Amino acid sequence: MLNHHFAQSDFSATHACRLAPAFRMLYSCDGMATVSFFPDIEFFHSSSADNSTDVQLTFYADDDVTSEFSKYVKTNGFVPESVVVKGLGAFRIRKSTKSGRLAGKIAIVTGGAQGFGKGIAESMAAEGAYIAVADLNLEGAIVCARELNAHFGVDTAIAVQVDVSDEVSVEKMVHETVLSFGGLDILVSNAGILIAGSLGDFSKDSFELVTKVNYTGYFLCAKYASVPMKIQHSFAPGYLMDIIEINSKSGLEGSNKNFAYAGSKFGGIGLTQSFAMELVEFGIKVNAICPGNLLDGPLWSDPEHGLFRQYLDSGKVEGAKTIEDIRKFYEAKVPMGRGCTIPDVTRAIFYVVEQKYETGQAIPVTGGQVMLR
Ligand SMILES: NC(=O)c1ccc[n+]([C@@H]2O[C@H](COP(=O)([O-])OP(=O)(O)OC[C@H]3O[C@@H](n4cnc5c(N)ncnc54)[C@H](O)[C@@H]3O)[C@@H](O)[C@H]2O)c1
Repeated sequence: MLNHHFAQSDFSATHACRLAPAFRMLYSCDGMATVSFFPDIEFFHSSSADNSTDVQLTFYADDDVTSEFSKYVKTNGFVPESVVVKGLGAFRIRKSTKSGRLAGKIAIVTGGAQGFGKGIAESMAAEGAYIAVADLNLEGAIVCARELNAHFGVDTAIAVQVDVSDEVSVEKMVHETVLSFGGLDILVSNAGILIAGSLGDFSKDSFELVTKVNYTGYFLCAKYASVPMKIQHSFAPGYLMDIIEINSKSGLEGSNKNFAYAGSKFGGIGLTQSFAMELVEFGIKVNAICPGNLLDGPLWSDPEHGLFRQYLDSGKVEGAKTIEDIRKFYEAKVPMGRGCTIPDVTRAIFYVVEQKYETGQAIPVTGGQVMLR
């Protein structure tokens, strides 16, 4: 489930990451295949002993592997089940047996250890997606991936440790995903932090931290996620993929004494629109989903650090004496009278993925609290 062996070996991850999405799409241009990579060819052979009937191709690392592979498929009318590339490693190709609205799709969910991210990962796995649960909190990511594998099949999820604000770490996250599943169809850029405070008191360090995670982090994740997506597009030009930013209603409307967060989320809408324009020619849709307050999630309800506690202690809500007063204050702002829930957001994700004629949009999921002009 956790791919330590990738980190320790000296194979060329970049080279293997170029080949795996190509094999996946050559196997089946609707994405219904997975490709797992084994840097250790000996290990691959020993673990494949019971698959001796597999059709296996062998190349050298310097060969033009994908064109030789596609020539083989054209000549023979079928695809090999495994490809050994001497000096690089071995790829095992399998037809996906998943079913559901996201059958066979490969997704990364950043910030997947808790809150919205965990709920999104569960809903997507329930609809047949393979999930890389990526989070700074490795323990939480492992727990989530383990639960997904227990509920939806052993090879459904992997846990990946990532700091989305660190370029090397983000590239590694995408590599681990591609080498485990064979490609990437959906990036859910969900990891985010909120530090509230008024202009007079707010430190530059806090401002830069929020910006680094929410804004720069989205840029880095989109940058590296688009690499395997572009490769998939070159082998299956009609195939559509998605980059989805979990933005916020604070990306559509200013947020009092919460400017670092709102600024980072407004910036995220600018990135979404600009990425959408650039990536449309590669079959990659880019959209942002802007939820209202997840009042039952840890960001709000954590008893020590949650926003209910922070807002009570800082006197942000005039006259509020208890956490329940703060909750009622925020619920009263919503025409539909309640906080946002995980199913509200996952419905929007399914809409975005299934919609073939929309990109560059910011979709509010706010119970009417924010209405687009
Ligand atoms: N909770 C809300 O009310 C709300 C409302 C609108 C939008 N959002 C957005 O939804 C997203 C998720 O929010 P949440 O409420 O689930 O938050 P959360 O705090 O419950 O979970 C965030 C997760 O992101 C991880 N994370 C933090 N920094 C990271 C980093 N640098 N690299 C990788 N992972 C990191 C954390 O470990 C955590 O698991 C955020 O982008 C947030 O802005 C939340």
